[in-house]
Amino acid sequence: MVAATRPLALAGAFMSAVAAAKTPKSLSDICTPNYARSALRDIHVLSNITIDLSSVETTLTTNSSVSSEWYPSATISFCNLTLGYSHTAIPNDKVHVTYWLPAPSAFKNRYVSTGGGGLAINSGTGYIPSGVIVGAVSGITDGGFGNFNTQWDAVFLESEGFINWQSVYMFGYQAHRELAVLGKALARSVYNVAGNKKIYSYYQGCSEGGREGWSQLQRYADQFDGAAIGAPAIRYAQQQVNHLTGNVIEQTMGYYPPSCELDKIAELMIEACDGLDGRTDGIISRSDLCNGGPPSRFRSKRFNNLRRQMPQNPTPAQNGSVTAEGAAVVGAFLNGLFDNEGRRVYLPWPHGITFADAATAYDSSTGTWGLSISDLGGEWVARYLQLKNTSALESLDGVIYDTLKEWMQLGMDRYYDVLQTTNPDLAAFRMAGGKVLHVHGEADNSIPPASSIRYYESVRKTLYPSMGFNQSVAKLDDFYRLYLVPGAAHCGSNSAQPGSPWPQTTLQTVIDWVEKGKAPDMLAASGDIDSICRWPLRPMWREDGVLTCEYDQASIDTWVYDLNSWDEPIY
Ligand SMILES: *[C@@H]1O[C@H](CO)[C@@H](O)[C@H](O)[C@H]1NC(C)=O
Ligand SMILES: *[C@@H]1O[C@H](CO)[C@@H](O)[C@H](O)[C@H]1NC(C)=O
Ligand SMILES: *[C@@H]1O[C@H](CO)[C@@H](O)[C@H](O)[C@H]1NC(C)=O
Ligand SMILES: *[C@@H]1O[C@H](CO)[C@@H](O)[C@H](O)[C@H]1NC(C)=O
Ligand SMILES: *[C@@H]1O[C@H](CO)[C@@H](O)[C@H](O)[C@H]1NC(C)=O
Ligand SMILES: *[C@@H]1O[C@H](CO)[C@@H](O)[C@H](O)[C@H]1NC(C)=O
Repeated sequence: MVAATRPLALAGAFMSAVAAAKTPKSLSDICTPNYARSALRDIHVLSNITIDLSSVETTLTTNSSVSSEWYPSATISFCNLTLGYSHTAIPNDKVHVTYWLPAPSAFKNRYVSTGGGGLAINSGTGYIPSGVIVGAVSGITDGGFGNFNTQWDAVFLESEGFINWQSVYMFGYQAHRELAVLGKALARSVYNVAGNKKIYSYYQGCSEGGREGWSQLQRYADQFDGAAIGAPAIRYAQQQVNHLTGNVIEQTMGYYPPSCELDKIAELMIEACDGLDGRTDGIISRSDLCNGGPPSRFRSKRFNNLRRQMPQNPTPAQNGSVTAEGAAVVGAFLNGLFDNEGRRVYLPWPHGITFADAATAYDSSTGTWGLSISDLGGEWVARYLQLKNTSALESLDGVIYDTLKEWMQLGMDRYYDVLQTTNPDLAAFRMAGGKVLHVHGEADNSIPPASSIRYYESVRKTLYPSMGFNQSVAKLDDFYRLYLVPGAAHCGSNSAQPGSPWPQTTLQTVIDWVEKGKAPDMLAASGDIDSICRWPLRPMWREDGVLTCEYDQASIDTWVYDLNSWDEPIY
């Protein structure tokens, strides 16, 4: 027996004694509160944590059909085991976790943690089936925020002006650490897996869930054997404020494009850039070639939504043409944030995106278009920087480009160690044998794909400072592979580029890499493009219609930026 006070940092090596000595036969055998409690009684992997055995609930689900862009469609049976635990030293503390347990006959000695999105630390039933499909115990956490539907912002403030730091640490990385350590031990205990047999451990998540994944890989080298990560909301201090860049550009330039004008420019840009990758299919595989200059070339193109006007449609009737002002706003928005001295603060957007972060609002009382302050960006500033108990930033009066940079700086100063999630030193994860698949939609309009490339580059330069580009990329390939998904949007395919692909089997792919040594070359995807090129190779269709992944220095260079407004390193 290992002492119950074994430090958390060593928990990964812990083997729990198993009281439920006989191996369970069926899903209904394991899906009772009594069985679950006996399995939990023998877990002592987290110090200063008390599992509330009376809170254990189990629900058996049989033959449930699940489908998503993040896993292949399947019919699964599982036991939903939900329980609460508390941190001994913290009053009124209760964290809830749910684990879906596959049938004993389907269990393949695997554990999978899944992540959240936005200010949610879990995605409800969104990702958790993914683990069951691959024969894993699969988990989500509520972070201790109340219940599985409570988002972080509901508990972030103790009172106006005072931060609930425990909630910051839990959201930042601690809740996921606990979910995974507990989940892995639970899997061993429930299925009575011998101490000398390995339980493989994985992670899957996108956006905030992607950041949560990196938060673990950067800190706990041997916690996950593999991770499938999408469009991570890393470089958090910059990323959250950057949602306001479009708003401030519009305010500064004094023009608020009507929704149809923004839609029209996006549509024209997709049309103009579609074929540059060698194939006209409505999907931009090479946004970097989309270099026909600023969107001013679309001036005076007409748009209207008159045929789509229905009584219940809240969008006002529009009938107009692309203006010089509208094209200029979009051009500035795509270029990204510069400070008031013209130095680059943050990353640009690829051409071909839709303009969610530049959306405007119609005021029916005046019949004019104006600011629509980004929800995520506004709440970040009002609640997390200004410490006001409000979800909305009321105005951007007096806010200039330099203000956005100051807000980014404040976010770094206050939260760097918990939320920034850009530690580029993955040496320990590499040493532990971990593998990570990282994907990002090339038309992501919420997190710039250049953000993922910047992190990849930071890791490359940190781990292999004296090697040339190709040599260090080949080294990184041993454990970290990045894929830009042509035409894809934020964490999924893109309705503005119909047929755009999304890699649906990343979890299985990373499992094959870890357990069978099968490193992926191109990534399999659903949609009209079934193979995704591995960075830094870039897609191009030959005349005979065959997709090639080519080395193109000019293309690579368009994804790498000097954020020269900053004196400190921005990884
Ligand atoms: C548990 O918490 C107590 C009091 O907060 C502390 O003194 C002790 O060191 C902790 N134990 C471990 C193993 O972290
Ligand atoms: C699991 O079961 C609990 C009740 O025990 C329920 O509240 C929850 O919605 C279920 N969660 C999932 C992800 O199925
Ligand atoms: C689930 O599906 C299997 C295979 O199709 C079938 O044998 C079984 O009866 C189904 N179970 C329930 C409860 O519907
Ligand atoms: C913040 O406001 C909400 C309602 O608007 C209230 O329920 C909550 O208690 C307030 N929280 C704090 C810390 O003041
Ligand atoms: C839209 O505007 C154009 C140009 O002003 C005009 O010719 C056309 O009749 C308008 N269409 C409708 C349906 O109002
Ligand atoms: C990397 O290798 C490619 C061939 O795959 C070559 O064309 C390119 O010049 C090399 N890049 C550098 C920076 O050496």
